[in-house]
Amino acid sequence: MTAQELTDIIYGAGVNFSKVFDELLTMAQCDEILYDTSETPFRFSVPANAQAAAQAAAQAAAAAAGSAANKPGSYVIITASPNTDGLTAACGKAAHDGIVNAGGKAELIDISAAGLKACLVCKDGWGNCCSPHDGKAVCVIADILPELQTKIRASQGIILVSPVYFGQPSERMKYFFDRFRRCEANNKNGSAAAGKQIDLIAAAGGSGNGTTSCIAEMETWSQHVGAIPKDRIAVTRFNRDMALKFIEDAAMRMVAGRFFRRPR
Ligand SMILES: Cc1cc2nc3c(=O)[nH]c(=O)nc-3n(C[C@H](O)[C@H](O)[C@H](O)COP(=O)(O)O)c2cc1C
Repeated sequence: MTAQELTDIIYGAGVNFSKVFDELLTMAQCDEILYDTSETPFRFSVPANAQAAAQAAAQAAAAAAGSAANKPGSYVIITASPNTDGLTAACGKAAHDGIVNAGGKAELIDISAAGLKACLVCKDGWGNCCSPHDGKAVCVIADILPELQTKIRASQGIILVSPVYFGQPSERMKYFFDRFRRCEANNKNGSAAAGKQIDLIAAAGGSGNGTTSCIAEMETWSQHVGAIPKDRIAVTRFNRDMALKFIEDAAMRMVAGRFFRRPR
């Protein structure tokens, strides 16, 4: 791939950083690339001994990504608590504030209020959603899921906020996990969440026990759908005030994309 082709990827269907990183890693024959998007144009760093072509590609990517960064990105925040005025809602609001304060566009979607339904596990578990498909095999349930898929695909990042129930995400969040994963994990066009930055937030109002297992479950799901976890935040009633500030800061950093190192 030439530097021009790499630039075209970036200018094409939005900045697909996952793809850009893969190309740069291959061309530079190194294990990791560090980029800093706190200023434009972005700075991509490759090892000094990388091939000349990779250096040129990194420069082209930086220039193109810098232009793209001037366009405000959109971010999807999903909350899943039946309590519209509790800790989960406060975390969602903090995430929303952080994105907006950093110049991004935020959409806060409460999938409990929207009534997102549970998977029906069609066809002995092998429903159309679960077979390899080109994105046209949709879930048979008519609710908000297709809208979420479309919005997540168009987004630059995702923030999930779930209450902690029995050390796990809420039932409603698990409905979303189950159905989104079935529809997107086998999508031949690539998962709608592939390469997206994702922040994972567990809101525990009780003892705080089980926040880590709740986040671990969210992280496993992120990996199944190709999203790239950034901050994992455990919120309890004890750390609430500081945690809400941290969520806002994490959301701002997501928009700024500061010092994000992609794992190999
Ligand atoms: C069924 C159920 C299970 C819960 N399990 C836990 C738990 O394992 N650990 C914990 O710290 N809190 C637990 N809680 C408390 C919730 O995490 C707490 O109510 C939290 O604030 C929920 O978010 P909300 O404020 O949005 O309702 C549980 C609550 C319910 C209703």
